[in-house]
Amino acid sequence: MSGAPLVDGFGRVHDNLRISVTDRCNIRCFYCMPEDGVKFVPKREILTFEEIERFARVAAGLGVRKLRLTGGEPLLRKDLPVLVRKVAAIPGIEDIALTTNGVLLAEQAAALRDSGLRRLNVHLDTLDRERFRQITRRDDFDRVMAGIDECLRLGYSIKINAVAVKNLVEADIVPLALFGRERGIEIRYIEFMPLDSQGIWLPGAVLRQDDMLALLEKGIGPLEAIPDADPRAPALEYRFSDGIGRVGFISSVSRPFCLNCNRLRLTADGKIRYCLFAIEETDVREALRSSADDGPVEALIRGTVRAKWIGHEINTAKFVPPPRPMYSIGG
Ligand code: 5AD
Ligand code: SF4
Repeated sequence: MSGAPLVDGFGRVHDNLRISVTDRCNIRCFYCMPEDGVKFVPKREILTFEEIERFARVAAGLGVRKLRLTGGEPLLRKDLPVLVRKVAAIPGIEDIALTTNGVLLAEQAAALRDSGLRRLNVHLDTLDRERFRQITRRDDFDRVMAGIDECLRLGYSIKINAVAVKNLVEADIVPLALFGRERGIEIRYIEFMPLDSQGIWLPGAVLRQDDMLALLEKGIGPLEAIPDADPRAPALEYRFSDGIGRVGFISSVSRPFCLNCNRLRLTADGKIRYCLFAIEETDVREALRSSADDGPVEALIRGTVRAKWIGHEINTAKFVPPPRPMYSIGG
């Protein structure tokens, strides 16, 4: 390790890096993207695999231990298994996971597994084909289900990310949990966050953790909070009292977890962000492209972590949504 770990001004140690490999996506979830006319970053501005690997290597030297590849939709990035193999080989990296919408998973799951990937989060809000189409504006439900089946067959550890939007997915909460219970998949319900590109978010549009807990207890049975193994993990986890299965909640709105945050982000176009909701970001692409010296890259990472705020303030009047939507930040 080259020196001290990455500690911010509030004493939070940063050992978790989320890397967005593309801002493109093959579906159009309304809470993330507009239906059409999305402007993507030109290819020359997107980091190459070599640049991403180098950044991850420098970050690992500063104590980063966990990586997650995201997008947009990461499986749209050509030869993604090549990148997985590269970052898996970096000394210090102990864990690699991927977040995907699952549409291309059936075709790519085996190659990704061969490259070293073992953990996946699949984004799926509903088991209802019609609602899937309504949310994603695409008809790819069967492909996502085939992708999940294939990953289970290959022995992946899978979680499902379900975005919780009020007056939309109430009827999906219980079926998803039952689906997960049958297959050993943890469902993670993510409170709808103000990251959509069209400004449709309102506090009242969030289906909150407590409402979801009530739906689950009524529809399935009692739940018990699982004492947190890693207090810095954002999800609050519960197990069903009958011993079958668990669910998690990313309650960014009703229970912000910024105080434990250990995460840093790299966007597909080479900006470092200290928060999903950050307004400012730090360009590292120029430093990666202009010199083979890792010193400036390291300094930019350290500087970004040092500048980190205490947390987003979604629940206050002060909150300003970030200028970029989710797909261009990396979830
Ligand atoms: N609010 C909450 N979660 C979102 N995601 C995308 N947009 C939003 C939003 N506005 C989730 C998707 C994806 C993850 C990276 O972020 O479920 O799995
Ligand atoms: Fe694509 Fe993910 Fe955004 Fe949905 S949430 S449009 S899957 S990037």
